Amino acid sequence: MVSFTSILTAAVAAATAVVASPLELINRGIQPGTGNHNGFFYSYWTDNRGTVDYNNGPRGSYKVSWSNVNNWVGGKGWNPGPPRKIAYNGTWNNYNVNSYLALYGWTTNPLVEYYIVEAYGTYNPSSGTTKFRTLESDGGTYDVYRTRRVNQPSIQGTATFDQYWSVRQVKRVGGEITTQNHFDAWSASGLKLGSWNYMIMATEGYQSSGSAEIEVRQA
Ligand SMILES: *[C@@H]1O[C@H](CO)[C@@H](O)[C@H](O)[C@H]1NC(C)=O
Repeated sequence: MVSFTSILTAAVAAATAVVASPLELINRGIQPGTGNHNGFFYSYWTDNRGTVDYNNGPRGSYKVSWSNVNNWVGGKGWNPGPPRKIAYNGTWNNYNVNSYLALYGWTTNPLVEYYIVEAYGTYNPSSGTTKFRTLESDGGTYDVYRTRRVNQPSIQGTATFDQYWSVRQVKRVGGEITTQNHFDAWSASGLKLGSWNYMIMATEGYQSSGSAEIEVRQA
C-alpha cells in the first residue's frame, strides 16, 4: 500500500475543483481511509489511479468495483485483530485479472504486513519466493512464504518491512480461517509477529478492473 499523503493531496485538489451534493458523494461510496461501520472496522486504501467504488454494507459486508486501478486494497474486520477464528462468504470472481482475496493485516514492533490468501487471480503472490513450509488448516493446505518490502508504504508511513504469506493451494471463496494456525506456522518458521494492528477480510486489485462482495464475521 502507498501513503495517504499523496491521496489526501489529490483528494483536496479534487474536492476543491468539484462541488458534489451529499447524495452524489454517498452514491460514489466512501472515501479512502479507515473507520468503524456496523460494529466492524474497515480500511480502504488506493494509490488514487483509476477508480474504486467501495461501499460498506450490512454487518461485516462490503461491496466494491474497481476500474483501471494501479493498486487498491480494502475490506472489513477488526482493530486490533488478535488471533480469532473468522468466517467469510460472498462473491469474488477475479480469476482472470490481478487481484487477491485474503485475510490481511498488520503488526507493529516488528512492522509486518500479512496475508492469508484464499484466492488470487493471474498473479500468485508467492512467485519467485522461497517456501518455508506448508500447513493444514480449515480443510486446506497453505504454503508459507516471506517477502521483503524496502521503502514502501505502510501503516507507519514509508518503511522497510516483511510480508508473511499463507497461500491456499486450492483457491476458494467462502469458509472459515483459524488465524492462530497460521500465526503458529509462521512463528515455527521464525517469522515473528508484533503487536496486533488491524485485520480485515480484504479484496486487493493491482493494475486491474474487477468487483467483489464479501461478508466477514467471527466464527
Ligand atoms: C453471506 O451469507 C449470509 C448468510 O447466508 C447472507 O445473508 C449474506 O447475504 C452473504 N453475504 C454476501 C456478501 O454474499
